[in-house]
Amino acid sequence: MTDANDLSRTPISNLLDASATGQTHKVCGWVRTFRNDRFLAVNDGSTLHNLQWVVDKDQTPDDLLKKLNTGAAVQAVGTLIESQGGGQSTELVVEELVILGEADPEEFPIQMKRHSLDFLREKAHLRFRTNTFGAVFRVRHVLQYAVHSFFHERGFYQLHTPIITGSDAEGAGEMFRVTTLDVENPPRAEDGSVDVGQDFFGKESNLTVSGQLEAELGAMALGQVYTFGPTFRAENSNTSRHLAEFWMIEPEIAFADLKDDMKLAEDCLKYVLQCALEHATDDLAFLERRELDVEKQLPQAERHDQPLRERLQAVVDAPFTHLTYTEAIDLLRNSKPYKKKKFKFPVEWGVDLQSEHERWLVEKHVGGPVIVTDYPAGIKAFYMRDNEDGKTVAAMDVLVPGIGEIIGGSQREERLDVLKKKCADFNIPEEHVWWYLETRKFGTAPHCGFGMGFERLVMYVTGMGNIRDVIPFPRTPQNAEF
Ligand code: 4AD
Ligand code: MG
Repeated sequence: MTDANDLSRTPISNLLDASATGQTHKVCGWVRTFRNDRFLAVNDGSTLHNLQWVVDKDQTPDDLLKKLNTGAAVQAVGTLIESQGGGQSTELVVEELVILGEADPEEFPIQMKRHSLDFLREKAHLRFRTNTFGAVFRVRHVLQYAVHSFFHERGFYQLHTPIITGSDAEGAGEMFRVTTLDVENPPRAEDGSVDVGQDFFGKESNLTVSGQLEAELGAMALGQVYTFGPTFRAENSNTSRHLAEFWMIEPEIAFADLKDDMKLAEDCLKYVLQCALEHATDDLAFLERRELDVEKQLPQAERHDQPLRERLQAVVDAPFTHLTYTEAIDLLRNSKPYKKKKFKFPVEWGVDLQSEHERWLVEKHVGGPVIVTDYPAGIKAFYMRDNEDGKTVAAMDVLVPGIGEIIGGSQREERLDVLKKKCADFNIPEEHVWWYLETRKFGTAPHCGFGMGFERLVMYVTGMGNIRDVIPFPRTPQNAEF
């Protein structure tokens, strides 16, 4: 018999087709099911698929057989053969079986039935063991790899922008304070206020809401950069699309305008979707079946018109629709839900689009991704470039069905005098952003960029309906378990 210690482990993903048969392998994984005292379905996470292990009952001690419960970690040495039964093409004839870690069947919470996603969120430490979460997190990996490939192939440099920041100019959301001061008993200045000068950085600091301002500094020398890091927003929004900690991809390109920005966003989204379709085929097929299954319980009107992979392919194949904000407002005011007073939030020029409006535009009006441009200056950030009309800025949001905003970006205001005026309009003291303003003083140039919410992308590609189910350990108000 082969000594298990002499063999290195073969992942199950390498053992699924007939070309690997006839050889001895060491395989490890977690038991999914054990039936007829003979067939063990084992999953090792390398793939959605289980490998069937055939156990010889007469050669295996009874107390070992009893421990082959769902969830147990097992190791086998055996010969891979073409499967005798249907349902799989190969199986492992076990010659040597070891239980690495038992799982008490009375206590192990993940059983072989379909658990609700709510239940599994409370078991986030074990939910990776389900087919659904295994698939989601493998797709998540493929997507992040695709993002890096896309930018690398186009000659971008990844820039690691800071996670702790002393700047609060971005205005993208409420910030999480970072401090080493004793919160029970902070040092006080003479006037009784907290003396932030004695804090770790000698000033107030926070977790970043975006790496954009720093990425702009990099782009003004390296030409094309991108960030891909965690960002933090202390908004109290308990929706299926908001996290307090999420990952964002932020490219920034010099010598480019809003048209180039829109093109980059569309190319990027199409590239990563295409990559997922090619490299996460099995997992997407599984998620597609799962979605169809779940939607069987829903009324027709709430179901998707197309299965998941067809929807994604359609996005890859068709050009995105472009609308200005002004056109979008006109369309919305002429829409049925507006006329029947079905929208909760007002629709008028100057007011930000709400999720219900975005979703009507993409789901009902266009039926695919839409890029909305040229928003009113007052509802967008200070750094966005003023348009000639004196009312709007060169902003763009990419909206997609089921999600709403997946990307937000703009051309940046590169004219020093205009930017200084905008700082004043937005009540941003120039001394807080002196370094940002200096890039406009020394060799300023047109440039633009955008931010893509990575979890919204993962939701879009996997079809998962809640953002808490596409990040391993979600951070939301009142929730930082695990
Ligand atoms: O539109 P946002 O706030 O834009 C920025 O932060 C800019 N600095 C980006 C840039 O131009 N470099 O956020 C960008 C994207 C949104 O379109 C959305 O996909 C995602 O980030 N996002 C969130 N995702 C999850 N949870 C939240 N709370 C999010 N807030 C924004
Ligand atoms: Mg936005």
